[in-house]
Amino acid sequence: MSDSAPFDAKYVSLLWAGPDQAEVIAGLHATLFDPPWSEESVRALLDHPASTAFVALVGGAPKTCVGFVMAQLAADEAEILSIGVGKDWQRKGIGKRLVEGVARAAQRAEAKKLHLEVAADNDGAMELYRSCGFLGTGLRRGYYQRPGGQAVDAVTLSLRL
Ligand SMILES: CC(C)(COP(=O)(O)OP(=O)(O)OC[C@H]1O[C@@H](n2cnc3c(N)ncnc32)[C@H](O)[C@@H]1OP(=O)(O)O)[C@@H](O)C(=O)NCCC(=O)NCCS
Repeated sequence: MSDSAPFDAKYVSLLWAGPDQAEVIAGLHATLFDPPWSEESVRALLDHPASTAFVALVGGAPKTCVGFVMAQLAADEAEILSIGVGKDWQRKGIGKRLVEGVARAAQRAEAKKLHLEVAADNDGAMELYRSCGFLGTGLRRGYYQRPGGQAVDAVTLSLRL
């Protein structure tokens, strides 16, 4: 990426993701989350009929996957199960594009609400969701177990579509 011009997230392509993208998504997930999700579990998720997922791609041929979002639809509700943007690509508007993309897809599938949960100490993600219009709906105490054994609360958020 050139340093001379600011990067514009409108040049990111969002591509529907299916099982073929499991390897690249699991690879990126492993750089962002501990513990990571296995490629098999990501593939199973993407293979599920209720799955709605996107990868964010930049550059020419071959394009590079710099982000992903995986969600599931159930009746008239949708839930973001995981979202991530590669460390070198954060704070460029890509996460917001992914949230907006999956929210639009859920809305077209007639979902009325988009839910997610986020670790209470994940200030960056919390700020992203707030900027997208999500509102807090609850708290799950000690929901996440960090590798060191530390328990962290989960905040549940929801966006009316
Ligand atoms: C959370 C994450 C997906 C955000 O992606 P991103 O592409 O960096 O987000 P964006 O650039 O679209 O940010 C949009 C807005 O969200 C807020 N935001 C995003 N990251 C932030 C951070 N680290 N600190 C403060 N605000 C942040 C800002 O308001 C930002 O707008 P601004 O840059 O104009 O100030 C990314 O940091 C990530 O992958 N983190 C690791 C995995 C993770 O925590 N996933 C979420 C689990 S629930």
